[in-house]
Amino acid sequence: MKTLDGKPRPGYFGEFGGRYVAEVLLPPLVELEKAIEQIMPTPEFQDRYADLLTNYCGRETPVFYCDILSEQLGFDLYLKREDLLHTGAHKINNAIGQALLAKMMGKKNIIAETGAGQHGVATATAAAKFGLGCTIFMGAKDVERQAPNVQRMKLLGATVVPVTYGTGTLKAAINQALRFWITCQEDTLYVFGTAAGPHPFPTLVRDLQKVIGTEARRQMVERTGSLPDIVVAAVGGGSNAIGMLYPFIEDKEVKLVGVEAGGTGEPGCMTSASLNLGRPGVVHGELTMLLQDENGQIDDSGSISAGLDYPGVGPEHAYLHSIGRVNYEVAYDDQAIDAFQRLTRFEGIIPALESSHALAWVFNHVDEIPAGSKVLVNLSGRGDKDLNHAMKYINLK
Ligand SMILES: Cc1ncc(COP(=O)(O)O)c(C=O)c1O
Repeated sequence: MKTLDGKPRPGYFGEFGGRYVAEVLLPPLVELEKAIEQIMPTPEFQDRYADLLTNYCGRETPVFYCDILSEQLGFDLYLKREDLLHTGAHKINNAIGQALLAKMMGKKNIIAETGAGQHGVATATAAAKFGLGCTIFMGAKDVERQAPNVQRMKLLGATVVPVTYGTGTLKAAINQALRFWITCQEDTLYVFGTAAGPHPFPTLVRDLQKVIGTEARRQMVERTGSLPDIVVAAVGGGSNAIGMLYPFIEDKEVKLVGVEAGGTGEPGCMTSASLNLGRPGVVHGELTMLLQDENGQIDDSGSISAGLDYPGVGPEHAYLHSIGRVNYEVAYDDQAIDAFQRLTRFEGIIPALESSHALAWVFNHVDEIPAGSKVLVNLSGRGDKDLNHAMKYINLK
């Protein structure tokens, strides 16, 4: 998308992205855009953010070589250990950055949506750290399947609002958070949790998450002498995936894979595979690939993993899909459960169900991955939050 004088339009990735919101939401988005330009480049912001990432969140995270699984698979499997971060997932990279921005903008409160609860926990954590009020919107179904994270948010001082309408998942939580923001925009920043939504969120979240891929790229070269052959990440709204994949985009020899949640895989089942099964459409203020019915109404999504259960996807992924730079593939619920158990049993690492989808794609494509390849997977989070839910599908003798 170009302006009349032929320049790329800010907030667009090819035809995708933009800011399709009601007029009442424009002022806080424009205010945020200005804050990104004026506050984020300052040494005051950059130094504090770097210090928080290192000493509070625990960066940099290691790249771990899975020797047992590599032997089984016939190629080298490496994990970028975002699961080791404070609060247990990559979400803190973004939440701490946006909460710091909110503080420096003089805001008193932050709000957020959450699916798996990891972004809610990360935002509630940042709010506690900076002394900000915090309200988290969460689909009622997710409140149930991610119960430990609800307790953590409340303990951190956040108000958790269960959203009961629709499917009671992430889509409804974002709708409710955007509605609420209209009423309190003067003293409140909406800390968006994924690389989606209206401009400037997709770019802001990507820029706060690209530390994952930047570190991993350097670590792989230092450790193995060259770049990985394949880089894989799970795609919900798209923040861990864009954070991991973006720094590799110019490395044309590296195959990039995003893994969407296919649901149960039964004919006609609900899925969250918006890039594989969707069409261009508008949701949550952006033009993107979207699951929709023949009338253009947004379809309900489905996945065993709350964090991937979303009918849309960030616009930069829609663009990377349209130009074929990233391959977007699908993994199903049962494959994710198998991968969840396999990493746990053979490497002693319990992964989040979201990250298990990325691993599942690797385990299911062993025949297509040449022996000796180096495969790097973003382990976006740890599985503690998923134990109760996952155990419904696992039979321990
Ligand atoms: C551990 C983990 N990985 C991945 C995701 C998916 O979100 P995104 O696509 O924004 O990385 C979530 C969402 O909650 C998550 O908790």
